[in-house]
Amino acid sequence: MTKTLRVALGENSYPLLVGAGILNKVGEFLKPRAKSAKVLIVTDAFVKQHYAPAVSESLTHQGFDVNTVEVPVGEGSKSLAQFARIQDSLVAHQLDRGSTLIALGGGVIGDLGGFAAAVYMRGIAYVQIPTTLQAQVDASVGGKTAINHPKGKNLIGAFHQPKLVLIDVDTLKTLPQRDIRAGLIEVIKMGVIRDESLFETVEENLDAILNLDDTVLIEIISQACINKAEIVAKDEKESGLRMVLNYGHTFGHALEALTHYNRYRHGEAVSIGMNCAARLAVNLGIFSEADFQRQSALLKRANLPLVFPPELSPKVLHDTMYLDKKTIGGKLRLILPTQIGEVVIRDDVAASRVLEVISQNV
Ligand SMILES: NC(=O)c1ccc[n+]([C@@H]2O[C@H](COP(=O)([O-])OP(=O)(O)OC[C@H]3O[C@@H](n4cnc5c(N)ncnc54)[C@H](O)[C@@H]3O)[C@@H](O)[C@H]2O)c1
Ligand SMILES: [Zn+2]
Repeated sequence: MTKTLRVALGENSYPLLVGAGILNKVGEFLKPRAKSAKVLIVTDAFVKQHYAPAVSESLTHQGFDVNTVEVPVGEGSKSLAQFARIQDSLVAHQLDRGSTLIALGGGVIGDLGGFAAAVYMRGIAYVQIPTTLQAQVDASVGGKTAINHPKGKNLIGAFHQPKLVLIDVDTLKTLPQRDIRAGLIEVIKMGVIRDESLFETVEENLDAILNLDDTVLIEIISQACINKAEIVAKDEKESGLRMVLNYGHTFGHALEALTHYNRYRHGEAVSIGMNCAARLAVNLGIFSEADFQRQSALLKRANLPLVFPPELSPKVLHDTMYLDKKTIGGKLRLILPTQIGEVVIRDDVAASRVLEVISQNV
């Protein structure tokens, strides 16, 4: 069973397929859409070993001329050095304007490969084959590509929409449970910000999701992507509405930075951030205690963390948040829930209320 969605962005529109066994059909799906036979697969060492052979074989079978470039596993590969290696490889294998770059891997590979495709010959086609739940439900829609600078994450990048996204839920079978749970937060987040029925689907099917049941996975991944596609369609270059996707992220990003990106998975930090933002909304009288409990119950069942580590200074966390680029005139722009399935954007919350809720830490 495969679901086909369409990310509607005018001339940048593209199909997004979610199913099982898709890796063996990459060649078939790409064939009618590719302008030339040359493709370069960008992947990391782990994903290459497990999944590149199937993809490569399927492409070769359809007559594609396939080359592969492998980068080391991990965030460190979102670097100028690995970016340069990919450009070298594109040049060495003589990819031209009609060629396709295939990003096969997690969010790191999607961001790095997408950025390499965005600038090579002023932009060539790229296909995303995300292999982590995080990348499948989040990075697969939106067209954001980037590498890091030593001074900050994602500082060098471009908007470049893929031509095609292929999501194979079979790849999740090798993903550690911790990463499944952390990736699931972006689905739960989407439920809270705009889709109560998606939230309910996760509540009702959590065990099946964690047991990697194909049918439920395909359902929640496509629903998350449909929601994100609707938001992105209204705000392709992130000027307004798209900000709602940052629910839980302002707190989460500060926590990730303060713990040097090595203590929490992104999704775990966002889980704590969502719990904190929801509590702030309760404190401000715009979110009910019952809805707060409903969100925290689901996060708890998914074994996601809810509170900041006790040794972390609330003041330091607070100050880190206010240093973030999302501050507008000294006020934080916060995404706060008003019910499950609805949020508001608030930039009038006093800093003292923010510090108060971080200190409360419940
Ligand atoms: N462009 C966007 O919109 C967007 C959105 C969210 C996150 N991101 C970026 O994505 C990155 C995080 O993504 P990620 O969590 O996927 O990280 P990742 O790409 O580093 O993958 C995490 C780890 O999982 C491994 N892995 C990948 N697929 C696997 C599989 N099927 N089975 C087992 N292991 C597998 C990788 O080798 C790596 O070690 C960050 O750099 C973040 O900035 C981008
Ligand atoms: Zn996120």
